[in-house]
Amino acid sequence: MKLPIYMDNHSTTPVDPTVLEAMLPYFTEKFGNAASRNHAFGWEAEAAVDAARQQIAALINADPKEIVFTSGATESDNLALRGIAEMYREKGDHIITTVTEHRAILDTAKRLEKMGFSVTYVPVRADGLVDPDVIKQAITPKTILISAILANNEIGTINPVAEIGTIAKERGILFHSDATQAVGKIPVDVQAMGIDLMSFTAHKMYGPKGIGALYVRRKNPRVRLAPMIDGGGHERGMRSGTLPVPLIVGFGKAADICRQMMPEESKRLTALRDRLRDGIMTQLDETYLNGHPTRRLPNNVNISFAYVEGESLLMGLKDIALSSGSACTSASLEPSYVLKALGVGSELAHSSIRYGLGRFNTEEEVEYVIRRTVEIVTKLREMSPLYEMAKEGIDLSKVEWKGEH
Ligand SMILES: Cc1ncc(COP(=O)(O)O)c(C=O)c1O
Repeated sequence: MKLPIYMDNHSTTPVDPTVLEAMLPYFTEKFGNAASRNHAFGWEAEAAVDAARQQIAALINADPKEIVFTSGATESDNLALRGIAEMYREKGDHIITTVTEHRAILDTAKRLEKMGFSVTYVPVRADGLVDPDVIKQAITPKTILISAILANNEIGTINPVAEIGTIAKERGILFHSDATQAVGKIPVDVQAMGIDLMSFTAHKMYGPKGIGALYVRRKNPRVRLAPMIDGGGHERGMRSGTLPVPLIVGFGKAADICRQMMPEESKRLTALRDRLRDGIMTQLDETYLNGHPTRRLPNNVNISFAYVEGESLLMGLKDIALSSGSACTSASLEPSYVLKALGVGSELAHSSIRYGLGRFNTEEEVEYVIRRTVEIVTKLREMSPLYEMAKEGIDLSKVEWKGEH
């Protein structure tokens, strides 16, 4: 077994060697511009892009024409929200989203508020799920878009998107879902789920960084979108710019591998996930699983370890790549807003670790991670006066600390 171990697959995934192999010729001899219509170099590039579009569409049950390539899910989220807001402004100025979205949605929504739109951020339940009825109640005659994350990047909770899709359709409102963590990991079907727009990205599914997609429905209803980038009219005018052919080829190959491997891979990862969770939680007291116990991604475990500071725990586990909260927010000392939204207190939110399993993790690695986590948590707690007091039965919430007024 090689150290360090990578177990932060919600943050990014390594490129599958088969994916890299498929990409390489498009950096060298097959370097054409897919928009060059008058020579063989261009035709070859265009054919490769078409094939990748089909592979990606097949993974989510879409038509290849409904795939718009972007630089990643951040751009897809921006394009979906801002593109719809601008295009449908005459119809209404109200958008509904949830409090546990990725920053790419929340920050875009905040910008739209500054531009005069009104946004409702619906709360989630303690297990992290969005209640479709709460979304229904938030709808007004001015609502033009509902955006709800499919699977959460911190706690892995899988939202009831098909039910939200049905509600949106009944009311003639467009439905966008950020499916970045779900596509390639669990079955995602834009038809069955009633999704009109959907963001996802290659680097979370063993493809390269810098390429993503926005699914944009063409029929029932035909979604229109104001572009955010103007130029040569690529991607049906929705996203101009020369296509990065090698990245797209890699994205297509990654999608194809995920589609073929998903049943077996998700079974294997679910077993590893459950072993990891049980191995840690049965050996350590005062540990709490964040998110829904079963409606969650096959690769996600998120645990709060009371009386242990998350950052100290990560330092102790230096030979394992993990995350405390979302990778995007780990630079700040604020506790995770996702965990806070579930009602997890600041202390416990600060003491939480996200384990993100992936295709290349082994049973041996999982056993090592269990062993090291138990060792470090036990050691840190031995040094914690708070843990000792709690074990002696002292109610810490009633303690009056020196210097406290
Ligand atoms: C749910 C979710 N949405 C969006 C993104 C952003 O994706 P990208 O890195 O492709 O911009 C991420 C990645 O952290 C994510 O987990």
